[in-house]
Amino acid sequence: MASVENDRVELYVELLKKSLSYELWEEQGVPIERIGYGGPLLRGAAAGVGRVLGLAGLQLVRRPPEDAEARREGKFWPSQAHTMIGRPRLDNLHRAVETALAESIPGDLMETGVWRGGACILMRGILAARGVRDRRVIVADSFAGLPPPDPRYPADAGDDHYKLGLLAVSRADVEAAFRAYGLLDDQVVFLEGFFEDTIPTAPVEQLAVLRLDGDMYQSTIECMTHLYPKLSPGGFCIVDDYGLEGCAKAVDDYRAEHGIETPMERIDWTGVFWRKA
Ligand SMILES: C[S@@+](CC[C@H](N)C(=O)[O-])C[C@H]1O[C@@H](n2cnc3c(N)ncnc32)[C@H](O)[C@@H]1O
Repeated sequence: MASVENDRVELYVELLKKSLSYELWEEQGVPIERIGYGGPLLRGAAAGVGRVLGLAGLQLVRRPPEDAEARREGKFWPSQAHTMIGRPRLDNLHRAVETALAESIPGDLMETGVWRGGACILMRGILAARGVRDRRVIVADSFAGLPPPDPRYPADAGDDHYKLGLLAVSRADVEAAFRAYGLLDDQVVFLEGFFEDTIPTAPVEQLAVLRLDGDMYQSTIECMTHLYPKLSPGGFCIVDDYGLEGCAKAVDDYRAEHGIETPMERIDWTGVFWRKA
């Protein structure tokens, strides 16, 4: 009986991952006005063409990449998916949460940098499927994209993530995504604002899983500084963006400064994790 129950949970979580990553469907083109790159001239021209097409009920979209492996690996921002992290990093998060539950590692589950919320929805879905009522999922984001580079963090000089409109997803949209899966309730806590303002005083006591996905040096170091001390022994520290120079430097700096020698395990081309000693 216990294994039938377990099979049902596995089946649900697999379906959840496929749905969150849009793996069940073909990738769609991204509406040009949502891409957010290109100089003012290109953006102006695209908006003009978009308006004319709009009158005829048509839309200008960027052709979706046809590389199925790149899609699986989360190497581009999907147009419809609720997460961009791809299959290996979703599987890693799934295993981390299940292991934390199986081993009774105390604490909440948190992601810093959530975009459309998919990774957090996965964590909430696992708690729901396992009937866990005493852990929260903490969803931390500006819900307005990344901050411009701060001169206090030279590693971020020239970083232009903040210009990318596609990375700014409102809290209302993330809540709507949770609601769509039937997973928005009092076990989901939103922490809205730039990390430098929210994370130092975040209402978080203990974490079993900490997933860092803020892309930049600043966004990574601020979260590690205030949240890593709250991670329980045996807890999972997952870093999505070790493939980005700024983020990798923040992780290396923090680990060096705090004498963390536990080896990092690679998840895929950009993700790494380790368990706190
Ligand atoms: C790459 S996306 C996260 C992808 C997401 N984890 C997923 O499952 O698809 C990065 C997110 O980090 C947020 N972010 C980055 N730096 C931030 C900061 N300093 N303060 C608040 N939010 C930040 C952005 O708003 C964006 O939503």
